[in-house]
Amino acid sequence: MMMEEIRIDTKVKLNNGVEMPIFGLGVYQARRGRKTQEAVFNALKAGYRLIDTASMYENEKDVGEAVRKSSIPREEVFITTKLWNSEHGYDPAISAFEKSRKRLGLSYIDLYLIHWPVEGLRNESWKAFETLLKEGKCRAIGVSNYMVRHLEELLNNSSTVPAVNQVEFNPYLYQKELLEFCRNHDIQLEAYSPLTKGYKLNDPKLVNVASKYSKSPAQILIRWALQKEVVVIPKSSRKERIYENADVFDFTISPEDIRVFDSFNEDLRTSWDPSTAP
Ligand SMILES: NC(=O)c1ccc[n+]([C@@H]2O[C@H](COP(=O)([O-])OP(=O)(O)OC[C@H]3O[C@@H](n4cnc5c(N)ncnc54)[C@H](OP(=O)(O)O)[C@@H]3O)[C@@H](O)[C@H]2O)c1
Repeated sequence: MMMEEIRIDTKVKLNNGVEMPIFGLGVYQARRGRKTQEAVFNALKAGYRLIDTASMYENEKDVGEAVRKSSIPREEVFITTKLWNSEHGYDPAISAFEKSRKRLGLSYIDLYLIHWPVEGLRNESWKAFETLLKEGKCRAIGVSNYMVRHLEELLNNSSTVPAVNQVEFNPYLYQKELLEFCRNHDIQLEAYSPLTKGYKLNDPKLVNVASKYSKSPAQILIRWALQKEVVVIPKSSRKERIYENADVFDFTISPEDIRVFDSFNEDLRTSWDPSTAP
């Protein structure tokens, strides 16, 4: 893929042939009810076609309602949701999926992810995911917060390679080895907390390069992820920021500046830390 060709509707092809938008909206900590509905509705209006929710976020119902209200054909929107930690095991995972699907009010989910590699139960849950995939209840299955060793364990236990691994990923947590492992195994990396949850948006060295491109620090961080060919899902509940975060398709960060951002790594984790998860 030529970088300057990335557009808001660019899709990546997952390892089972399903196409996933490279850019979307995250709704973690988007308040349930009107706040989430408006965010999703505004995002769809701004051209976003991927929405990332989870059973744990307690806003699946609002995501579904906003998708219906948008009148965009269902097949043009890509919906991800996730299995929560208390829902692991074969039967519990099947029934958790069904509950998520009903809350979303959708006949199928595009991507179902294991939210966290819960020790002892994750492989049983993965078998349930394989069943859901086989039955056509979701179009792709994947994982989240899996480190290389969790992926190796899964690959040793199953012939179904996860389509996606969603992890915290930004220049301040540049997980290069994990990115390479995923690329080598045809697992699409997806970046959560691409804006460092806002913590680093005032970092002078980031602000400095951003001004060179006449873009905001948030836009630069999103573009960096896109140029790594990583799916990226910035979260905002505010209309102006939803538009700002989508305005990243009219410029390219130079290879030299990409290398500058790569050097920002400080293993910063703003969420939970799977690097020590057994
Ligand atoms: N799988 C997992 O374990 C996991 C963990 C964390 C997140 N995620 C997913 O990834 C998504 C994104 O990650 P995240 O929500 O943790 O963090 P993020 O996208 O890095 O940052 C979101 C924060 O930045 C603010 N923000 C958004 N756009 C901005 C802009 N242009 N300028 C200044 N501030 C801006 C938002 O505030 P406002 O809303 O007020 O604008 C919010 O406080 C989540 O929503 C979720 O879908 C997954």
